[in-house]
Amino acid sequence: MVGKLAGVAVALAAGFVLPAYAASIETLFGPYMSPGTEIAASTEANFSGLVTPRWTTWETPNWTGAIKPETEADLQNIVKIAKANNISFLATNGGHGAGICYGTISGIDINLSNFNSVSIDVANNELTIGAGVKIGDIIQPLYDAGKAVPHGNTDCVGMIGATLGAGIGIGTGIYGLGIDSLKSVRLVTASGDLVTASRTSHPELFWAIRGAGANFGIVASAKFQLQDQVNNGNVVRGAYTFPGSANRSVFELYKSFDDFIPPELSLQLGISYSRATGTSQIALTYFYFGPLSGVQPYLDAAAALGPTTNSTSILTQPALYNSLQNGECTIGSPISGGTLGLGKTDVPTLQAVFAELVAFNVANPTTYVGQSVFQRYDNKLTLQTPSYETVYPWRDIKTFWLHLNFYLSPALEEPAANLTKSMRAKLQATSGFATPHVYVNYAYGDEGPAAWWSLKNLPKLVVLKALWDPKKLFGKANPVSGC
Ligand SMILES: Cc1cc2nc3c(=O)[nH]c(=O)nc-3n(C[C@H](O)[C@H](O)[C@H](O)COP(=O)(O)OP(=O)(O)OC[C@H]3O[C@@H](n4cnc5c(N)ncnc54)[C@H](O)[C@@H]3O)c2cc1C
Ligand SMILES: *[C@@H]1O[C@H](CO)[C@@H](O)[C@H](O)[C@H]1NC(C)=O
Ligand SMILES: *[C@@H]1O[C@H](CO)[C@@H](O)[C@H](O)[C@H]1NC(C)=O
Ligand SMILES: *[C@@H]1O[C@H](CO)[C@@H](O)[C@H](O)[C@H]1NC(C)=O
Ligand SMILES: *[C@@H]1O[C@H](CO)[C@@H](O)[C@H](O)[C@H]1NC(C)=O
Ligand SMILES: *[C@@H]1O[C@H](CO)[C@@H](O)[C@H](O)[C@H]1NC(C)=O
Ligand SMILES: *[C@@H]1O[C@H](CO)[C@@H](O)[C@H](O)[C@H]1NC(C)=O
Ligand SMILES: *[C@@H]1O[C@H](CO)[C@@H](O)[C@H](O)[C@H]1NC(C)=O
Repeated sequence: MVGKLAGVAVALAAGFVLPAYAASIETLFGPYMSPGTEIAASTEANFSGLVTPRWTTWETPNWTGAIKPETEADLQNIVKIAKANNISFLATNGGHGAGICYGTISGIDINLSNFNSVSIDVANNELTIGAGVKIGDIIQPLYDAGKAVPHGNTDCVGMIGATLGAGIGIGTGIYGLGIDSLKSVRLVTASGDLVTASRTSHPELFWAIRGAGANFGIVASAKFQLQDQVNNGNVVRGAYTFPGSANRSVFELYKSFDDFIPPELSLQLGISYSRATGTSQIALTYFYFGPLSGVQPYLDAAAALGPTTNSTSILTQPALYNSLQNGECTIGSPISGGTLGLGKTDVPTLQAVFAELVAFNVANPTTYVGQSVFQRYDNKLTLQTPSYETVYPWRDIKTFWLHLNFYLSPALEEPAANLTKSMRAKLQATSGFATPHVYVNYAYGDEGPAAWWSLKNLPKLVVLKALWDPKKLFGKANPVSGC
């Protein structure tokens, strides 16, 4: 191991840089990797074993090869060799990142899935996970330990990837943002060094990690503060569907949570068009991290609006998240999307975007299915962390709007993107925010760094980027300088 590291140093010091055409990726990286590391060029038959299709086939990176390393030292050497040879790369885990900047990437996929360790230290209330851990990997162990961390809703999404943008989910109201429970990361930086970033070690880097993390290196592992699990790990799910014609009353009900929502409660308001019935429809789902009696009055208010279907269940957290992964873990479909943060609900605007979405579905009867979801997560706890603590700026978002286009014909890619942007513009006009508040992990990609990290934070972020990653090796999916 020592010999290999020294070898890299000698090779780099001597300016030993192979022109890309003369060196296979195996020749270039292989000698400096631990024995279990797998390497393949995209032209080789075994490449597909290292890189599976991403969640979406929309705007995907053009991989020239893949490396699946085993150790932190491998990650360090990959960064050093790639930099010396001007080879670009992207480290990937869950493969759920999407947006137009991904389509501009060409280079090597660094498959992080070997870094799959999950360690719970109950005595110190800490969770330590590796870069390859998916959200679904921590749910059962945490449940068994009676502990909790904030995390996203979908099992197959990368836990660190989601956290580096902020980390939101149905538990946000009760457990806070992922970044607010993050204690430290071990980060492979552009120099190939392995540094610890925390509130006390490189605190400014840690500020930038918490919201723009993918721009500063490869997080090899992350340590989270554990909280006690609430309500014995049980969650109430109340699910209602309504005919689209009930839009006004359902949207008014959703709006009634603008001023107050209990921290234990979150809402998902889905608008879509059913091909089966040829009608517009609305789905309103409640998740409550508490006893049924606490949420019953809220459920009754939905039931009073005359749902087409209704169901109430009390689920353990593992059972709940297992039910939520349905469909969202399917990979390899053409799906584009967009997002916006809202500070208030405007019922006429929701009606207008619903009408626009339904009209687009009707106009494209065989090639398109689109849906939007409005996620209402309580932000009282989120607002308790001062805004200067993290580069993630949008603690004032009450609703995360997430739009998804499932388009079966390539000809619909541009019209569907235009639909997304048109709906987004309507929502922005009544969002309650003068400038767009965009959650970077849901971004379409054209919003730009000020919308992802705020105009106020950009100068400091740009300085830190120039300091830690001057050659812009990292963060190509949502670059500090835009794409
Ligand atoms: C179906 C679906 C559901 C989602 N649900 C939620 C949700 O509930 N809450 C939420 O907050 N987000 C959610 N997201 C968004 C998700 O947080 C982002 O897409 C996230 O970037 C995905 O990480 P990944 O590892 O799965 O994806 P990848 O495509 O593998 O990686 C995405 C980005 O993160 C970077 N990255 C990943 N791991 C590391 C690492 N260890 N170090 C440095 N950079 C890294 C990659 O380089 C890339 O830039 C969802 C996305 C989808 C598609
Ligand atoms: C893929 O095939 C190439 C060429 O045969 C070989 O050099 C490389 O080690 C293989 N990689 C893996 C991961 O099997
Ligand atoms: C990483 O490799 C494993 C198998 O080797 C594969 O299952 C996984 O999907 C790969 N990850 C990505 C993001 O392609
Ligand atoms: C992907 O990159 C290769 C090598 O640079 C190039 O030949 C190919 O045309 C690219 N493919 C796409 C779809 O851009
Ligand atoms: C590095 O690669 C990029 C794109 O692949 C290219 O534009 C640039 O000229 C290269 N730089 C050097 C020094 O070779
Ligand atoms: C919204 O409700 C009104 C009144 O019932 C109805 O006319 C309209 O079609 C509904 N919108 C959608 C998209 O279903
Ligand atoms: C809920 O659904 C059941 C059937 O599953 C039905 O009997 C009941 O009336 C419904 N309740 C409401 C409030 O719609
Ligand atoms: C999409 O919007 C752009 C910019 O407004 C426009 O130039 C283009 O024609 C639109 N495309 C479609 C298919 O509507």
